[in-house]
Amino acid sequence: MNYKIETTNESITRELAKKIGTKLQSGDVLLLEGDLGAGKTTFTKGLAEGLEIPQMVKSPTFTIVREYTKGRLPLYHMDVYRLEDAEDDLGLDEYFQGNGVSVVEWAHFIERDLPDKYIRITLKHVAENERTLEIEPVGARYEALCSEVFGE
Ligand SMILES: Nc1ncnc2c1ncn2[C@@H]1O[C@H](COP(=O)(O)OP(=O)(O)O)[C@@H](O)[C@H]1O
Ligand SMILES: [Mg+2]
Repeated sequence: MNYKIETTNESITRELAKKIGTKLQSGDVLLLEGDLGAGKTTFTKGLAEGLEIPQMVKSPTFTIVREYTKGRLPLYHMDVYRLEDAEDDLGLDEYFQGNGVSVVEWAHFIERDLPDKYIRITLKHVAENERTLEIEPVGARYEALCSEVFGE
């Protein structure tokens, strides 16, 4: 089952992500889609709060991956925008198979390298402070997690 949620400001998006973050486990994977400014990094900041990461999360655009290791679990925050059409083995499996939580901005650019179970979150810019979040869990664990967070 998918979920569609509207948020009317940045802190609501962060709170929502934080709620998911508190429930994440070792090895979890979240794929974030949406145009520049849609709120992917903002969402990741909320996830980091839920993972009790004390550092400030910054966009990894110029590094591809940033690792945060001071929380309840490690967070591997990837922005793969610049890897579009990359032919090489990117070595990202090390993260997906790792102990931490992987979050991938622009995940469709590395479609072939993605694990087959994940939560995909697509953010859409509606108005200056309004966004819609479409949340699509793939795999039984993620179905259960989303139903726990978003279900009645
Ligand atoms: N409801 C909202 N949810 C998330 N971000 C919002 C919202 N309203 C406004 N914003 C702003 O939109 C921008 C989103 O930027 P960012 O998270 O870096 O996007 P992306 O990583 O998708 O490029 C931030 O400046 C944020 O303050
Ligand atoms: Mg970003």
